[in-house]
Amino acid sequence: MMNRRQFLMTSGLFAAGGLSGLGLASRAQASPVALTIQSARYALEANPTEAMVSLSPDAPPPVLRLRQGQPFVADVTNTLDDYTAMHWHGLRIPNAMDGVPYLTQMPMGQGDTYRYDFTPPDAGTYWYHPHCNTMAQMARGLTGVLIVDEAEDPGFDLDLPVNLRDWRLGEDSQFIDLFTARGAARGGTHGTVMTANWAQEPVYDAPAGGLVRLRLVATDTTRVYRLQLPGAEGQVIALDGHPLLVPVAFPTAEAPLILGPGQRADLAIRMPASEGQTLTVFNDQPGGLRTLVILRATGTDNRRALADLRPLAPNPLPTPDLANAEVLEFVFGWSPGDGAVNNGFCGTLGYTFWSINRVSWPGDAADGGPLATLERGRTYILRLRNESPNDHPIHLHGLAFLPLRSDRREIASNWVDTAMLHERETMDVALVADNPGDWAFHCHVIEHQKTGLTGFLRIT
Ligand code: C2O
Ligand code: CU
Ligand code: CU
Repeated sequence: MMNRRQFLMTSGLFAAGGLSGLGLASRAQASPVALTIQSARYALEANPTEAMVSLSPDAPPPVLRLRQGQPFVADVTNTLDDYTAMHWHGLRIPNAMDGVPYLTQMPMGQGDTYRYDFTPPDAGTYWYHPHCNTMAQMARGLTGVLIVDEAEDPGFDLDLPVNLRDWRLGEDSQFIDLFTARGAARGGTHGTVMTANWAQEPVYDAPAGGLVRLRLVATDTTRVYRLQLPGAEGQVIALDGHPLLVPVAFPTAEAPLILGPGQRADLAIRMPASEGQTLTVFNDQPGGLRTLVILRATGTDNRRALADLRPLAPNPLPTPDLANAEVLEFVFGWSPGDGAVNNGFCGTLGYTFWSINRVSWPGDAADGGPLATLERGRTYILRLRNESPNDHPIHLHGLAFLPLRSDRREIASNWVDTAMLHERETMDVALVADNPGDWAFHCHVIEHQKTGLTGFLRIT
């Protein structure tokens, strides 16, 4: 594996990182954005990798910028010789726009276009990825950051989205097996090359003494990041897009920020005051600290202070009525081995290792009933029980939920769409069933999702 370091200029963030941001912010009426799912080629290492999947032939999926409360229309066209569907992770939008094959739309074949048309109610950091042939298409590249800008500019000097993910590449920089049966039956299969914005250890310039909004997005299919920023002055301001209700401690060496597949964290960081000083985002992993991203201070001291920032306005989330909540139990564990095989067009890994409530539902398949039916407007407590020794980032589409308690640790009650369930942990989370439809509910370790750890909740 290479250890090449790519120096990028501030102004080069979008160009050099390939994040040609689609400027969708200023328009009264939404004119459709054309997004074409296609095969791509890109140099993650010296030698370009072929057979990638992106939205352009030679660049990472762009950072999509939407505006809170403003309509967004995307015509997504599939040019791959395989089925797909596009999902907007974390957005509380109408069910028909959720991009889940068979549940909310039919899979898109080659040449098909599907119009996604919705208005994001919440500001914050979200992401997008396919939900059909999910393993193959995500592992090959199709995971992009989606930002919903606040109506009011929060006043940062730099807004830096960081798409964290790995790749499974061989010596020749070409894809090797995207997963392994051994990994799928355990914690998942890790990549061989770690990147941030499709670059290894990129360096971004940021104004000295300025305030940076670091949007950390874990889009890897497997890796649970343990992030730390030694020496940084900063604070956690949002999780899974939503401004915090209760404070979360800034990561330290003893207590890194744990970000599992699907999860996001927004950090407000104050840059060091003198030109050339750096801040590094590390992942704490077996073998030691691994550099993911470097921020380099440029120019003269801007003398900003974290206290200058006004708190982000809360998103319009419904308050759970805990006194009248019904408890629904979900057990995540191994599969009894009699799971049905996938009968749809969206790909199977060929195994069922995992289950929810002892049933393996072949994800992205044409059949299977809801795990539970919820009455619209009522509050529910989902009791999430992990009876396995592996981590499971459990994600619910279309709604946000509030973790209440865990039997293993103290947890902060902040709105999220993905909850990290550690080894044998039971966590209660609350939600108001305010968004009608069939909402996918699954582990975001894609090998778990695709081998049984998936299902859906119906809100009627
Ligand atoms: Cu990122 Cu089914 O979700
Ligand atoms: Cu989702
Ligand atoms: Cu899992």
